[in-house]
Amino acid sequence: MKLTIIGTGYVGLVSGICLAERGHHVCCVDIDEEKIKSLQSGVVPIYEPGLDVLLEKNLNNNHISFTADLKNGVAHADIIMIAVGTPSNPDTQAPDLKYVDAVALSIAPLLKEGQVVVVKSTSPIGTASRLKQLIQSHCDVNFSMATNPEFLREGSAMNDFMQPDRIVIGVEDDFASKKLEKLYHPFKDDCELMMTDLASAEMIKYAANAFLATKITFINEVSNLCEKVGADVSQVSKGIGLDTRIGSQFLEAGPGFGGSCFPKDTLAMAYVGQQAGAHQEIVETVIKVNDHRLNMLHEKILKLFNGSVHNKTIAFWGVTFKPLTDDMRDSPALNIIPQLQSLGAKCVVYDPQGKNQGEGLLPNVAWCESACEAARNADALCILTHWPEFYDVSLEETAISMQTAHLVDFRNMFNFDIAQKSGFISYTPIGMRAWVANLEATHS
Ligand code: UDX
Repeated sequence: MKLTIIGTGYVGLVSGICLAERGHHVCCVDIDEEKIKSLQSGVVPIYEPGLDVLLEKNLNNNHISFTADLKNGVAHADIIMIAVGTPSNPDTQAPDLKYVDAVALSIAPLLKEGQVVVVKSTSPIGTASRLKQLIQSHCDVNFSMATNPEFLREGSAMNDFMQPDRIVIGVEDDFASKKLEKLYHPFKDDCELMMTDLASAEMIKYAANAFLATKITFINEVSNLCEKVGADVSQVSKGIGLDTRIGSQFLEAGPGFGGSCFPKDTLAMAYVGQQAGAHQEIVETVIKVNDHRLNMLHEKILKLFNGSVHNKTIAFWGVTFKPLTDDMRDSPALNIIPQLQSLGAKCVVYDPQGKNQGEGLLPNVAWCESACEAARNADALCILTHWPEFYDVSLEETAISMQTAHLVDFRNMFNFDIAQKSGFISYTPIGMRAWVANLEATHS
């Protein structure tokens, strides 16, 4: 089938490349001409494992093309997908729909009879219906409206698209339903394709992300309690996750959720609830608890230095919001590092992919080219993001190279035994009691 996707950000690009890989002819449109040129030459502007290889393949077999010309883009296809950003408005916390609205208004005069316009961008419940009216008031042809939320995790987005748990499509008529069923036919054998109405599809996206954010926040609170009462949160996660009603995923305690979706989507759901007169108290609490957690992360480090990090050098391994991405949006690093800097600490960072985006967001940080280099001469080492390559670093050499070998492990990558055997003098995990070596006993 012929498909046009407007917006070559994370979602638009992954969706476009994966749909091309499944045999469709995809035209991707963006107003950023530099980006289009780079994509035309096969260069992917984001870090997503494997995406560059699939792009090159589908450029070579002419299954995907890129253009900044919206008119040509709209003329190309039966299905037009809108996949531009819906960031939170910093003042109201409501999703800012200016980009989606602008696309709707620009495509309105270009639409042809029988085209289907699909909202892929995560937008508040009611957006697809509103856009239908907005577009219709600026065009004379009949077209169908649909919505098709994405459930792509950064770092495994291609896998999530190619082998989805489910495909959710909201439609208002049979025509759109048939077209979209055909579009997703190549994926149908592996998962359920759920056809529903526009509002329910929009709601599914918010409810799914709010639920996952709640699950993470729940285990994070449990981890606080574990630290106080001497339980081990990883054992607790395993023990409750084995109950199939609960499930083991998204039960890893950590520094608090971040990224481009959970913070924005929980805020949006709370906002929609307030507007609709159905307050989402659980989601509102999740936002509050997660924010509080992020703002308190630095306390674990302060504790190591009796409350003062002035002139201390703190090394960080990983600053992206999770591994296998270069995305820094709402990363916990953006809370803890500035907090420690404001208290006089010097922060040194290594991240396998985060430097490009991170440099502008984390001023006065020293960026290193390797994990070992970052830790050298530091007073404490803090793991914020569990990049797999950190397992390959020699912890013995790391500990020896440090000024004082404190290890703060916000992702529970290691454990007390490993830290002690490697020569660290303290180990501070999440959701377990911290350990500090009895140095006097050791030296006597
Ligand atoms: C998320 C959803 O998973 C995806 O379905 C949606 O469409 C977009 O948002 P993403 O933001 O890429 O995907 O990341 P995800 O892997 O879901 O992690 C989100 C945050 O939760 C990260 O900060 C991560 O570190 C944190 N997290 C996740 C935990 O702290 N513990 C966990 O067990 C899982």
